[in-house]
Amino acid sequence: MDTKGDLISAGRVGCVMRYGDVAVKTANKPTVPDNASEYTTIVYQRMNRTNEETLKHEGRIYAHLIHVEGVLKPFEISDTEIRMPYVSHGSLDRYLSAKKDIVNDTQRLRWFRNAAEIIFRVHRQLVLVADIAARSFLVNTDLSLQLCDFSESVIIPVNQALDELVLQGLLSTKFDIARFGSMMYEIVSGHRYEFFVTPEVEADLDGGESKTYRKWPTDEKLPDKRDIFLGDIIRKCWLRDGFRSIDDVCVALYRGGRRRDSWGRSRCDTGLVISTWYSNPDDNTHYHGRSPFFMAESSGCAAF
Ligand SMILES: Nc1ncnc2c1ncn2[C@@H]1O[C@H](COP(=O)(O)OP(=O)(O)O)[C@@H](O)[C@H]1O
Ligand SMILES: [Mg+2]
Repeated sequence: MDTKGDLISAGRVGCVMRYGDVAVKTANKPTVPDNASEYTTIVYQRMNRTNEETLKHEGRIYAHLIHVEGVLKPFEISDTEIRMPYVSHGSLDRYLSAKKDIVNDTQRLRWFRNAAEIIFRVHRQLVLVADIAARSFLVNTDLSLQLCDFSESVIIPVNQALDELVLQGLLSTKFDIARFGSMMYEIVSGHRYEFFVTPEVEADLDGGESKTYRKWPTDEKLPDKRDIFLGDIIRKCWLRDGFRSIDDVCVALYRGGRRRDSWGRSRCDTGLVISTWYSNPDDNTHYHGRSPFFMAESSGCAAF
């Protein structure tokens, strides 16, 4: 292995270095400046401890998700570093900015289905992702995706209903869906828009691309999505009364894509039949139902 690494990314709490085929994430631990006051020294020490704890926390989430298809699989997780395969195409946001002229809507839809399925599998393991964004998905050589970055994620207690839980007002299934809507919006429109909801603020805060609302925003407060690709799905990801679970988003993405097998059924990339269109020969109407297998899986009945 190369001893001299290349810096891939330096974030607020951690940094990622490349050593040949291996990427290593460690906690940021800036050294206390010479002649620092006692106060500054304490601030640095606290920050370093928080960053170390965040890395350990992320290691625990990776370990919890180790068998989940589509989640990056580290080679080794310790209290001080996470060693993982280096993914040469890098993150989806970097890939998109390098290849924006050749990426078309078919490929975008493929990524959205792939990403929604990965989040579905992660939710099934009772983990809320939190930082859902194009920068958190790595692009494999066959252009399939792997989810990385679980520093803000949480494992929820087994006896909690995932779709009802809201942690610290900021983490919930619905927030993951809203963030997924923001990721889709950025990829199809080129504009960033994300929001947080916290009743503690006195009035809505406009932080440019990132808004903070006192109450869940209604359609008038959201960006116009009428003329963009998959705008209606993005809208339902954002609206409070829109999609309630990520499997509903998966179904909508497969319906929107009209990729059907010879039986008229929509298929996930995993080959899982998620929905079936039934025909009623008496009145020639068509209606849609979920396959019993998908319902069993999404209600958490299937073996993990
Ligand atoms: N295994 C990897 N292979 C290639 N690039 C990676 C890998 N892991 C992370 N990266 C790059 O580093 C960036 C930051 O990694 P991430 O785990 O999200 O750290 P942070 O917690 O600082 O956001 C990612 O957006 C991606 O561009
Ligand atoms: Mg990140």
